[in-house]
Amino acid sequence: AGLAASRKEDHIRLAHEQRRGPAARNDFDDVEIVHHALDGIDIDDVSLETRVGPWTWSAPLYINGMTGGTGTAHTVNRALAIAARETGVPMASGSVGIALDDPAAAASFRVIREENPDGFVMANIGAGRSAEDARRAVDLLQADALQLHLNAVQETIMPEGERSFSGWMRGLEEVVAGAGVPVIVKEVGFGLSGRTLRRLAEAGVQVADVSGRGGTNFARIEAARRSDDVSYLGTFGQSAVACLLEAPAEGPDLLASGGVRTPLDAVRSYALGARAAGVAGPFLTVALEGGAEGAVDEITAWLARIAELLALVGARSAQEALSTDVLVRGAAREGAQLRGIDLTALTHRTDSR
Ligand code: FNR
Repeated sequence: AGLAASRKEDHIRLAHEQRRGPAARNDFDDVEIVHHALDGIDIDDVSLETRVGPWTWSAPLYINGMTGGTGTAHTVNRALAIAARETGVPMASGSVGIALDDPAAAASFRVIREENPDGFVMANIGAGRSAEDARRAVDLLQADALQLHLNAVQETIMPEGERSFSGWMRGLEEVVAGAGVPVIVKEVGFGLSGRTLRRLAEAGVQVADVSGRGGTNFARIEAARRSDDVSYLGTFGQSAVACLLEAPAEGPDLLASGGVRTPLDAVRSYALGARAAGVAGPFLTVALEGGAEGAVDEITAWLARIAELLALVGARSAQEALSTDVLVRGAAREGAQLRGIDLTALTHRTDSR
């Protein structure tokens, strides 16, 4: 547990350092919502409620899974849990695996529920864990949902990481069947392809978080933890935008994360089909630098800006952003075209209003 804990501390510190300076360009910059100056509606007619799988969330924004198991993690989780309580956004823990192996680490997770007894809380575990572990993770947080992360790229980058992935699909099916709560499957910054989303749907997964490339970059974080340079893998995987564009219509309900930097990125993700947008790295920075108060203020501001942007584009909800006209440019466009995706339908959606 000592090694696992020092890795968690490294991840917090390096994810935070990665965020110094202006936010990097990513595929969300290639997504342009066409402005129609007479399409605006009254902000009072905008509802932030969003339907996600079997749930109605009070906001189309959530604090994504990050941490637990160390002193810093405890402080961060408390600050973010208070912010989740005060703003009503759902919140996920970091991987509970460390607390299943070492009960002393449990308090830094439990604080998420203690500070937010009535909120929507997601427990997080990694692929390869048993259904029994999944239930223990859910129990520890009295969680409403389980996030199961598929992080094969990250494991490959870590010298101490997993090297056997062939059992993941069967294990996932067992966890879906036995977790006791609905399972949200997510990546950790390398994206879920259309093929993966179809396989998840076949396994009965109702909600998936594409968590693509373009935000927190674990290849760069792991490169900074050691002397051998694995940062070249920083360009591996797909962005959230690429994932949303190729997601199957009959697949799981979609959550968008990975490089969501601003409220505009969140609204861009709704326009591409996401029911809600997840933010990890940017909210970690706010919690570390501003504590609970800073996190409350930041998330309150995000929700206000999201409501304003929805009113501006004439959408009464995140789902209605799906009837905005969207232009996809640049690398995101080229990638989608190579995957055979027709982008012209996106540019003419207001025609049918
Ligand atoms: C993460 N992430 C993550 N995801 C997960 O499923 N389990 C985990 O334990 C962690 N741990 C973790 C630690 C830290 C410090 C960060 C910043 C992130 C990944 C996270 O949920 C998300 O998928 C990615 O960070 C991409 O989103 P952002 O950071 O670009 O908003």
